[in-house]
Amino acid sequence: MDTMVKDKAITKELDVENIRNEFPILSVTVHGKPLVYFDNAASSQKPLFVIKAISTYYETVNSNVHRGVHHLSSLATDQFETARKTIATHLNANPDEIIYTRGTTEAINLVAFSYGEVFIKEGDEIIISQMEHHSNIVPWQMLCQRKKAVLKYIPITDSGELKMDEYKKLLSAKTKLVAVTHVSNSLGTINPVEEIIALAHAKNVPVLLDGAQAVPHIKVDVKKLDVDFYCFSGHKVYGPTGIGILFGKTKWLKEMVPYQGGGEMIKEVKLEASTYQEPPLRFEAGTPNIEGSIVLATAIDYMNNLGIDAIAKHEHKLLDYATEKLRAIEGLKIVGQAKYKAPVVAFNIEGLHPYDIGVILDQLGIAVRTGHHCTQPIMDLYCIPGTVRTSFSFYNTIAEIDTLVEGVKKAIKMLKK
Ligand code: ALA
Repeated sequence: MDTMVKDKAITKELDVENIRNEFPILSVTVHGKPLVYFDNAASSQKPLFVIKAISTYYETVNSNVHRGVHHLSSLATDQFETARKTIATHLNANPDEIIYTRGTTEAINLVAFSYGEVFIKEGDEIIISQMEHHSNIVPWQMLCQRKKAVLKYIPITDSGELKMDEYKKLLSAKTKLVAVTHVSNSLGTINPVEEIIALAHAKNVPVLLDGAQAVPHIKVDVKKLDVDFYCFSGHKVYGPTGIGILFGKTKWLKEMVPYQGGGEMIKEVKLEASTYQEPPLRFEAGTPNIEGSIVLATAIDYMNNLGIDAIAKHEHKLLDYATEKLRAIEGLKIVGQAKYKAPVVAFNIEGLHPYDIGVILDQLGIAVRTGHHCTQPIMDLYCIPGTVRTSFSFYNTIAEIDTLVEGVKKAIKMLKK
């Protein structure tokens, strides 16, 4: 297994003990035990730097954007647009290619509607994969139903990798979009997105990448990838909930119809008809999540200060250690054994239900996620009810993984009595 650390030898080491002190929630106790937080793929915890930025916004800036001439409104607008530039720089995009959304789910729904209305017609095909999160399945199913288009799925192997040969066979003159996840939330697989994009572009097909599980761990450069649409969520990158980003190439955004109507997205409204703003404002109807947008940029600054390579290096160490220790437990099977993985280890124990293990781990203060992780087709394919999923962050430690391993052994003992 490998992550995307370029040079493990020269990448700096994180001072994890000091970093942990910056996250107040990491020192709470749960059922009388120190919290071990291994549900980072669902939502990451927030450093004081981010928490304080939220109150600073409300204490010194709070006002509506783009509308007022007064001081606070200018300040809020300025910070809101500066945040857009920070996020654009982080992805190596232009600011007018960055659309604020509620999260990855809304970003995908936006593309499914606004791109779909213009570019998808009866008989067209859209390719996704069997390892997608429901948020990258259902919007395309809805679009295909609406337009009488056809949804095709790239199958996956037993180890949780895309069958690239099958993907090549699916691509045809009928394909109008490919939408796949950069990193699988339930298997941890890092997909070969460069190859996926190159193959699609060779047939003039645009590609959307769901980056919700990638941006917390990997440096993403949308220009280098040459990806057409890319999206991620704030709450997984140490920022607030209810804010997310859609990157879209201007050539597509300019052609796409608005997602929602209302204030902010119009140029002129007459009783007969209205005209719309250029992107990105065309896709941002109503008062946006101003505080969320500004603080998302703060969270990105925080990650960049630590260094994405340093983050990846530490998380890679945790991934390797957890994989080795968990694999050694009798009856434990890791679900998702791709060559290239993000720090996710999902597993099942022979004869036990993942939910029961999760409940016992919780009693020991260990937060894991159990169930289908919004990827029911994967569970159906592997004929399992779900998994116990552990997902790591740069603030996690080897000692916490030892606690997890002991916890799993204890759960097995209790449940197999
Ligand atoms: N998509 C989130 C997860 O994988 C909620 O847990």
